Amino acid sequence: MLDLAKKRIVLGLTGGIACYKIAELVRRLTEQGATVDVVMTEAATHFITPVTMQALSGRPVFMDAWDARIPNNMAHIDLTRGADAVLIAPASADFMAKLVHGMADDLLSTLCLARACPLLVVPAMNKEMWDNPATQRNVAQLRDDGIAVLGPAAGDQACGETGNGRMLEPHEILTDLIASFQPKVLAGKHVLLTAGPTSEPVDPVRVLSNRSSGKTGYALARAAREAGAQVTLITGATALAIPRGVQAINVMTASQMHDAVMANVRHADIFIAVAAVADWRVTNISTQKLKKTSEGGGAPIMNFAPNPDILAEVAALTNGPWCVGFAAETEKLAEHAEAKRRRKGISLLVGNLAHQVMDADTTELVLFDEQGVHPLPPAPKLDAARRLIAEIASRAPRKA
Ligand code: CTP
Repeated sequence: MLDLAKKRIVLGLTGGIACYKIAELVRRLTEQGATVDVVMTEAATHFITPVTMQALSGRPVFMDAWDARIPNNMAHIDLTRGADAVLIAPASADFMAKLVHGMADDLLSTLCLARACPLLVVPAMNKEMWDNPATQRNVAQLRDDGIAVLGPAAGDQACGETGNGRMLEPHEILTDLIASFQPKVLAGKHVLLTAGPTSEPVDPVRVLSNRSSGKTGYALARAAREAGAQVTLITGATALAIPRGVQAINVMTASQMHDAVMANVRHADIFIAVAAVADWRVTNISTQKLKKTSEGGGAPIMNFAPNPDILAEVAALTNGPWCVGFAAETEKLAEHAEAKRRRKGISLLVGNLAHQVMDADTTELVLFDEQGVHPLPPAPKLDAARRLIAEIASRAPRKA
């Protein structure tokens, strides 16, 4: 299912050059299934036309509190009733100041006051305006009032200066809006995850690795963040973007992954081991590239030593986090997974069939716990991850 299916979003534009990026945001919102009602302040129309917004949203655009197209002439009520969120992007310093004071002198400010749904604002302004104590006071007040303030980012600004105040990119706004609709079942929790493959060096140019794409682990990191957790992701090399709001630590070998986990485990409430960790590392790593025509002429001989079992070690910690393990098997899933759960000393193990999940976008998970076996329906990896986070949240003990 699309992430914003059946959602009705009131998208408010205020005056700022970042308005040009909102054309793309409208596209992304509608692609995710949202119905978008665009409302513009008079200042916003100097930066982008209502015609553009109407063409992209496929719906009439509103600017005037006295719009005669609304039969009862109460645009501020009609537009917000039934809306799932009001999103203001870009939000100018002036508009945020108005929100703080509950002013209602145009359609957009009036509907913000009249709304009965969450309000999210995405600031965009020059760095001096953002850093100004008046703006900072207003931002703090908005947050205090339960209004979500998304960003801003730092970087090059349209005015030629560099600093805080850049509006988030449309894909980032979309991700944060989608996250705002997820239940905050892990609020206040710190989740530590491992994901992706590990790679064990053979010589300066070669590694022994595996086919893990990292997709399941990254989807779980995103879902945990959406659920309100602080998330640390220890990841092997993947081609994926780090999920928004997730702190990532890049590693290559199993030993590096082990050390990074141990350095971060003390703060964790929940540890989810999704990484495909190499069981063995090469002990006679060649300092020079191995040549086909080496002395003796035969295949290279590699010696191996076992890698630490990160999950088993974390599960054995006194006062350690609540642990979840994964098992991708090629056969006898139930038998291997349950044996693995007991061997590693964990209360929840998530199993799947390796050939179904390697690099795929969908997955079919089976949960193994003290109570037995619980298959979950096949689903895209992000949907499956959200479901799994809900299962984890309902089982993980609350810390005193
Ligand atoms: N795991 C780990 N450290 C290791 C090996 C595995 O933390 N050195 C974790 C994985 O992240 C996963 C779980 O243990 O959550 C099971 O991994 P898997 O490779 O399936 O299990 P192994 O113990 O390696 O068993 P086998 O190779 O025999 O299937």
